Amino acid sequence: MRYALISDIHANLPALDAVLADIAARPGIDAAYHLGDLVGYAPWPDQTVARLRAAGMPGVAGNYDSTVATHASHCGCRYEDPRQEELSHLSFAWTLEHTSAATKAFLATLPFRVDLRPLGGHAAGPTVTLIHGNQVLNTVYVHEDRTDDFLAKMGGGIGARAGDVVCFGHTHKPWHRVVAGIHYVNTGSVGRPKDGDSRAGYVLLDVTADTGVRVDIVRVAYDVEAAARGIMASTLPDAFAEYLRGGGPPTPDA
Ligand SMILES: [Fe+2]
Repeated sequence: MRYALISDIHANLPALDAVLADIAARPGIDAAYHLGDLVGYAPWPDQTVARLRAAGMPGVAGNYDSTVATHASHCGCRYEDPRQEELSHLSFAWTLEHTSAATKAFLATLPFRVDLRPLGGHAAGPTVTLIHGNQVLNTVYVHEDRTDDFLAKMGGGIGARAGDVVCFGHTHKPWHRVVAGIHYVNTGSVGRPKDGDSRAGYVLLDVTADTGVRVDIVRVAYDVEAAARGIMASTLPDAFAEYLRGGGPPTPDA
């Protein structure tokens, strides 16, 4: 089975459209799933959700999805920089106000976790698990510098065994590591990368009986300026346009 896994779209419709086109143009993809955070930071929350629903793409609830759906007090995002923290509150308030009741109702239905059996459930494994953050909360950041011990505990909490694949997003930086035979895959971000590369990101995951697990991190150029123009034409902070252009936060002296 070959999966396309897309995460952290964050209401960036031009980026989502570019990724959906890239997926459609690749032969041999059996299924596509999203790993949450469909809304926030950009001006197309309803359109983004409508696009995914029209594509029939299932997926899990990110922290932004569940906090917008439940009108929580905060998106559950964490920023080291006080300015980015302040901006995150503005984004959350804007998104609460500009996301329709129907979209919120849909976001509330997203499951927390999805388990896939690429070789069929009649075989013992492997299992591919999709979550947004970690196995307990969709707000926990699983960064690349997490220790092997942290990842092993996460895999244990999920019930993963050697050969299984644990996929998640939330940090907006893609990476892949194997600990005790379990693959940990951060699928990056379609609509708000934070690794300095402004292109949209997603992951192709192959799981076959013959060749085992293969992970490809994909980047797709898209019309960043169209997204930036949409942000600047809205009442969202213009800083979010600059963030997209730079593929992440401005450097402290920028
Ligand atoms: Fe996110």
